[in-house]
Amino acid sequence: MSVVVLISGRGSNLQALLDAAVPVSAVFSNMAGAGGLAIAAARGIPAIVVPHREFSSREAFEAELAAQIDTFRPGLVVLAGFMRVLTAGFVQRYAGRLVNIHPSLLPAFPGLDTHARALAAGVKLHGCTVHFVTADVDIGPIIVQAAIPLRPVDTPDTLAARVLRQEHRVFPLAVRWFLEGRLEIADGVVRVKGGDAQLVFDDS
Ligand code: GRF
Repeated sequence: MSVVVLISGRGSNLQALLDAAVPVSAVFSNMAGAGGLAIAAARGIPAIVVPHREFSSREAFEAELAAQIDTFRPGLVVLAGFMRVLTAGFVQRYAGRLVNIHPSLLPAFPGLDTHARALAAGVKLHGCTVHFVTADVDIGPIIVQAAIPLRPVDTPDTLAARVLRQEHRVFPLAVRWFLEGRLEIADGVVRVKGGDAQLVFDDS
């Protein structure tokens, strides 16, 4: 099955997917300077820029992006740090085969600055979530979460680094489950056939 990955930045999650031998057939970025483009190119994977700023509307940008994505006939489209809000039309086009990673334990802290907001809220657990994408931002059936306890010494930067390590663990896991056809959604709840744990807890 062909997997297309969308990025906007450094691409460490893309790297984790590639290291886990996910069959990525193309990488798209809306930002020409995204570090992840070089990671893809170094592996001989098409690394394609569709610069959103050059389009007059979100819909026009997405139409071009989707047209180019579809030339790779993806069975799965992965948002790995893709920093554009997607319209309902785009999400519908890839319904059930569009996944995202978000750096919080959803439904807590959708949106940006999740680590600072977790600290400010005084939560004792934080982490990341891989989920199917629906039309609402950072909401959608949860495939897997990784949780870490907050420490008194944590700052937004230390938390970001600790959570990122967990992202690199669970994102390949979720994608592998999808590729193996093991994810079932019923009433908005995802189960993994075979009963693998959908929560990773790391207090190291
Ligand atoms: C990650 O923290 C991810 O959760 C968020 O954007 C960041 C992307 O990082 N959606 P990278 O480009 O994969 O290193």
